[in-house]
Amino acid sequence: MATTTATEREFVFTDKHFTKAKQELYDYAGIALADHKQDMVYNRLVRRLRELGLDSFDEYFRCLDSSPAEFTQFINALTTNLTAFFRERHHFDYVKSQIVPAIKNSPGARLRIWSAGCSLGEEPYSLAISLLEAGIDPSSCDVKILATDIDSKVLASARTGVYEQSRVKSLPKATVHKWFLKGKNHNDGRVKVRPELQKMVAFNHLNLMDDWPMKGPFDFIFCRNVMIYFDQQTQARLLQRMAALLKPRGHLFVGHSEALARHQSNFELMGKTIYRKVN
Ligand SMILES: C[S@@+](CC[C@H](N)C(=O)[O-])C[C@H]1O[C@@H](n2cnc3c(N)ncnc32)[C@H](O)[C@@H]1O
Repeated sequence: MATTTATEREFVFTDKHFTKAKQELYDYAGIALADHKQDMVYNRLVRRLRELGLDSFDEYFRCLDSSPAEFTQFINALTTNLTAFFRERHHFDYVKSQIVPAIKNSPGARLRIWSAGCSLGEEPYSLAISLLEAGIDPSSCDVKILATDIDSKVLASARTGVYEQSRVKSLPKATVHKWFLKGKNHNDGRVKVRPELQKMVAFNHLNLMDDWPMKGPFDFIFCRNVMIYFDQQTQARLLQRMAALLKPRGHLFVGHSEALARHQSNFELMGKTIYRKVN
C-alpha cells in the first residue's frame, strides 16, 4: 500500500492532530499507538476526509467529536485487521489432536469457543473446519464459536463468509474443495464458506475494553495478534478476565509475538503460544 510521508501530505496533520487521534483510540479501544505511527494514522484518516469532503483535520476532529457514526468509521480505519485462514497452523493442529478427542465422544458433549478479535472471520472459520475435520458432529455435540471484534466493517464482511480466491490459495486444494463453494457470475474469483461452517459461528460486535455480556465458561479462547496493540497493564487485565471466563484447564491461544509474562500465574505453557488455565 502506498503511504504518504509528512513532506508529501495533501492536508496539514500536526502533532496535535496525531495526539488527539492517539488519545481517542487509546481511551476507547485500548490500542496504544507508537509515535512512529504518525504516517500510518494520516494515511488511514485522510481517506475519511476525502469521503466526507472535508478541507482540514481540524474540521475532521470537530466532526469526530459530534458524530457517533464517524467515530465508528474512525475506529474501523485505525484497527489493523491482518489475518489469514489457518494462520499459525500449529494452534489448529493442537485443537484437533489435543482438545477435540477428549470431548467428542462424551455424552451430551458441549463445546464453547471464543475467537476474540476475529477480524475478517478466517480465524473462526478455520476453527470450524478443524472441529469438523477432527470428528465433531454438530448433530450430537452442542458446539458454538463466538467470534467478536471491535471493527464493524470486518464483522459485516466476516458474516457473509465470502472471500477473494487469493485468500485460500495457500490452502490444500482438497480443503478448499471440501469447505468452500466457488463463486459464479458476478462472484467469479470468489469463494464462500459452506453453510455448515457459517452455522457454527456467531459474529458479534464487542470492544474488549467494555463489560462482556457472555458468561462462559469457554473450553478455549483464541485471542491472537490482538494484545500486541495494548499496553502491559491492559494486557494483564485482559488475561485475568479471560482466565475467569475459561473452564478449569481451558486453553488460551495467543499470537506468535504475545508470549505471556512469567508472572502470569493463571496459566501454564502447553506449547508454542498455547496456555492452559491452571485450575
Ligand atoms: C491483527 S487482527 C488479528 C486477527 C486474528 N485474531 C488473527 O490472528 O489472524 C487484530 C484484530 O483485533 C481487533 N481489535 C483491536 N482492538 C480491539 C478491541 N479493543 N476490542 C476488540 N477487538 C479489537 C481489530 O479490529 C482486528 O480485527
